[in-house]
Amino acid sequence: MQHSIKRHAYQDKISSQERGFLTSSQIDFFKEEGFLVIPHFVADETCDRLRQRMDEIVRDFAVSPQPTSRFSTRSEAYLNKYFLDSASNIYFFFEEKAYDDRGYLVYPVEKALNKVSHALHDLDPVFREFSYQKKIKNIFLSLGYKRPVLLQSMYIFKQPHMGGEVVCHQDGTFLHSHPTPPLGLWIALEDATIENGCLYAIPRGHKGPLRSLFQRDGDTLCTEILSKEVFDHSREIALEVKKGALIILDSLLPHRSDENTSSKSRHAYTLHGTDKSAHYPKTNWLQRPEDFPFREM
Ligand code: FE2
Repeated sequence: MQHSIKRHAYQDKISSQERGFLTSSQIDFFKEEGFLVIPHFVADETCDRLRQRMDEIVRDFAVSPQPTSRFSTRSEAYLNKYFLDSASNIYFFFEEKAYDDRGYLVYPVEKALNKVSHALHDLDPVFREFSYQKKIKNIFLSLGYKRPVLLQSMYIFKQPHMGGEVVCHQDGTFLHSHPTPPLGLWIALEDATIENGCLYAIPRGHKGPLRSLFQRDGDTLCTEILSKEVFDHSREIALEVKKGALIILDSLLPHRSDENTSSKSRHAYTLHGTDKSAHYPKTNWLQRPEDFPFREM
């Protein structure tokens, strides 16, 4: 009898993890370290389905090109109306290296994209179904978000030989809400290795202050320096993960990624969300019009 009770308890734990709920030791790890890696969170076939859908989106874009923008975390050239409008659209951002000196794109579109963002999760049926699934909502619920809402999504390509470096930053610089901060979910759609530009993070670095705040005033953007404390890269670790892994990031955790100098791409899909009850200031760059609000999960 005792044996059968034990077996049921174990089965409950497994099915609760399959549904995305975190265990108490995972929650403790996340709170202490500022990040958490969950291998095999997304099935391989689902990763392939998202990649396939992005191929279709890119193909449609390539045959009827719309306005685009470059994207680099080392330049502010991308901070324009196209960027602001991407909050409510599926927009296309290209690698700096994809252009020649005269400003012409010198690579095929599918090899030159840095990312597609920031409202994929609301506007595309495949990404919507994936993003609003219970298993992802349950990650938010496990971490104390009572009524999670999704703010933004990014499909990041990290192209072979071209995918640009992402300088060390805290996501809290770019999205802020109070008292509940935004939560970041980073999903590997392909293996992420040191060679193809995996994430690097500074464990426990979320215990330091927010270094800077990117703010919007109308259509003007500026970055306010809040702390001169430097990131301690001596404690940094590489988060090499297999396809399907989820990395959860605290909004204060310093993280970055190198340029991809390898011949393999490193596709990833990221989501950021917060709680419906949180105050989401107008100073966030990411704003939606009244008729297209952020949606509860
Ligand atoms: Fe980030």
